[in-house]
Amino acid sequence: MKKAVIPALLLVAGLSVSLSSAQAADGAMLGNTCAGCHGTNGVSSGPASPTISALEKDTFVDMMNSFKSGDRPSTIMKRIADGYTDEEIAAMADFFASKPYKAADQKFDADKAAAGKKLHKDYCEKCHEENGTFDSDGSAILAGQWKTYLDYNLADFQAGDRPSPKKMAKKMKKMVGKHGVGSLEDLSNYYASQK
Ligand code: HEC
Ligand code: HEC
Repeated sequence: MKKAVIPALLLVAGLSVSLSSAQAADGAMLGNTCAGCHGTNGVSSGPASPTISALEKDTFVDMMNSFKSGDRPSTIMKRIADGYTDEEIAAMADFFASKPYKAADQKFDADKAAAGKKLHKDYCEKCHEENGTFDSDGSAILAGQWKTYLDYNLADFQAGDRPSPKKMAKKMKKMVGKHGVGSLEDLSNYYASQK
């Protein structure tokens, strides 16, 4: 009698453990493994890794999936994103969405920032609303993001290495045509200047 009951109990216990871990991926626990590069609660302290707090859930999920699929080129994130299921990515998205954004403490060129402010209004504000402080429709937050990271990404967009929304590509092309490639540097200085 005893012999039969124990394995049955073990089986039930084992089953309930695997069910609960499948049901509730722990976003905070998973998210902590990103802290080495993206900082505590997604607020990055190093210029090459972006701050990832306060993104809309859908934006975060789209980003992770575009790393996974390879649509978006990356130095490291494809290998990382490949290791997580949809449920785990959704749980991390909730976790980081709930954390406040903090602008990076960094240097910038004030003259370039002033030129960038105007360029932003003319070419970028339509989608990167409220001076880029607000993640509207998957556009991510630009204000206060690390300049080094922005410079890399603007160069990738410009070269066509990172796909951008058609209308964004059009605006950028128009801007660079009129104001030269230095306009990208003006913009990254503007975003870096925002506190
Ligand atoms: C070894 C450092 C490192 C680790 C660990 C790391 N990341 Fe990243 N992350 C980067 C870098 C660098 C980029 C820029 C893209 C690239 O080159 O891979 C990035 C980009 C991102 C982006 C895009 C942000 C944007 O604004 O476009 C997201 C989202 C992200 N990482 C999420 C995560 C999550 C979630 C984890 C943990 C599961 C994680 N990262 C772990 C270094 C890292
Ligand atoms: C038509 C809307 C639109 C316009 C106009 C636009 N963007 Fe974007 N931008 C987006 C969207 C949507 C994304 C997210 C794309 C993605 O992750 O694949 C994005 C992403 C970005 C990113 C990457 C953010 C990150 O954290 O990964 C940067 C940098 C950026 N835009 C800069 C600009 C600049 C500078 C301009 C003006 C010259 C501009 N954008 C104009 C919609 C737009």
